Amino acid sequence: MNNNDAKIMRKAIYPGSFDPVTNGHLEIIRRAAKLFDKLIVLVSVNATKNPSFTSEERATLLRKVCYDIPNVEVDTFDGLIVDYFEEHDCDIIVKGLRAMSDFESEFQMAHINKHLCEKAETVFLCADSESTYLSSSMVKQIVSFGGDISAFVPAAIIDDIKKRLGRTT
Ligand code: PNS
Repeated sequence: MNNNDAKIMRKAIYPGSFDPVTNGHLEIIRRAAKLFDKLIVLVSVNATKNPSFTSEERATLLRKVCYDIPNVEVDTFDGLIVDYFEEHDCDIIVKGLRAMSDFESEFQMAHINKHLCEKAETVFLCADSESTYLSSSMVKQIVSFGGDISAFVPAAIIDDIKKRLGRTT
């Protein structure tokens, strides 16, 4: 074995609001976990959104649905993604792309992150066809009107979401 064959440990972060985690997010998490040695799913602050769940609540929901993926860790961070990236010696930022509408802002963020931290490469995974139309805000809207969200979020967290956002009458 020469130096080129030595095992390189690749640590990735998947930042997002996850308010709450959907089947679309989970599908990206499962695929990214196969590509990297360690994946940190990072509940982060999107300054343009007003979340329904606290960061800790969102992390708890994520841990509930990721418990069976051994190389996945869930964390929270209130700051710049690149600061967490550097502090935790990460190698890659993972993002999911659903449609062209995601592309513009994701492209911008990837460039800004690279500008702020030269080492911060972003890798995009395309959402599967089932998830292209899915978003946390749609899930919240459906549940708030008493609709069925079982096709959109993991079964383990349906009751938690209903308890917080569902109709009481
Ligand atoms: O799930 P979202 O809301 O699309 O995720 C967006 C998020 C949280 C990843 C983005 O807003 C973010 O990176 N927030 C942290 C602050 C930061 O590092 N911004 C990047 C430079 S603009």
